[in-house]
Amino acid sequence: MDELISKLKKLVSVSDKIVAFTGAGFSADSGISTFRGAGGLWSKYDPSIYADINYFIQDPSYYWNFFKDERYPTIKKAQPNDGHYALVELEKRGKIYRIITQNIDGLHQLAGSSDVIELHGNTRKIFCMSCNKNYSMNETYNILKRELPPRCSCGGILKPGTVLFGEPLPQAALDMANITAKNCDMFLVLGSSLVVYPAASLPAIAKKNDAVLVIVNIDPTPLDNIADIVINENVSKVLSKLISH
Ligand code: APR
Repeated sequence: MDELISKLKKLVSVSDKIVAFTGAGFSADSGISTFRGAGGLWSKYDPSIYADINYFIQDPSYYWNFFKDERYPTIKKAQPNDGHYALVELEKRGKIYRIITQNIDGLHQLAGSSDVIELHGNTRKIFCMSCNKNYSMNETYNILKRELPPRCSCGGILKPGTVLFGEPLPQAALDMANITAKNCDMFLVLGSSLVVYPAASLPAIAKKNDAVLVIVNIDPTPLDNIADIVINENVSKVLSKLISH
């Protein structure tokens, strides 16, 4: 690993428009389960039932049980990990162009990263499907204690601000992510299986626009063959070594 990290260090030293593209593996060290890979959530919860917009419309209780039992307890107590703080340090050194995250936990912002695109929404924004009133994660959890699915004071059903399967990504976020991928000098994939589109199209767009493509992920990904560097290690450890002098 150290040889690959010193190669990465050299490439980072000549870059000043690095995009950090993060996935669930990036928040694993903060105690939030990944979806795929060892012990992934989708091996326990069928995403076509628990995280799909069409099923949600039919019966929102599956998603909200998943939120109550699984997501809320871990995200509520999650704190940024060494990987999040390493990206803040790289930003201080003028290396980071922008962060594009698939994560909905808000940990990049909590750690102090200033420019974050949330491709899949975020769990802080929960709203009423009838009157659009916003609810926090905590408020929603308290409603869930007394009724499932949770309803707004107007009677409407609450919907998460995260993008469910079958839903379009926030167009502004996706447009900005495409422009960012085309204008960076390094595209650093950190803890993503790269199997969910359109997010997973971004590394190839960056590569096509002459960026260096680096993938740091414990498991192999379908895009390893187009990457300049692949490091199959814990992302927090790799980034901590990357910023150490
Ligand atoms: N360090 C590096 N990689 C890790 C770590 C770690 N500590 N822990 C897990 N990984 C890797 C796993 O090997 C796996 O390939 O992180 C990857 C996480 O993959 P997914 O769980 O598929 O997460 P992600 O790529 O973000 O999923 C994309 O799928 O279900 C949807 O909307 C959801 O945003 C999510 C999208």
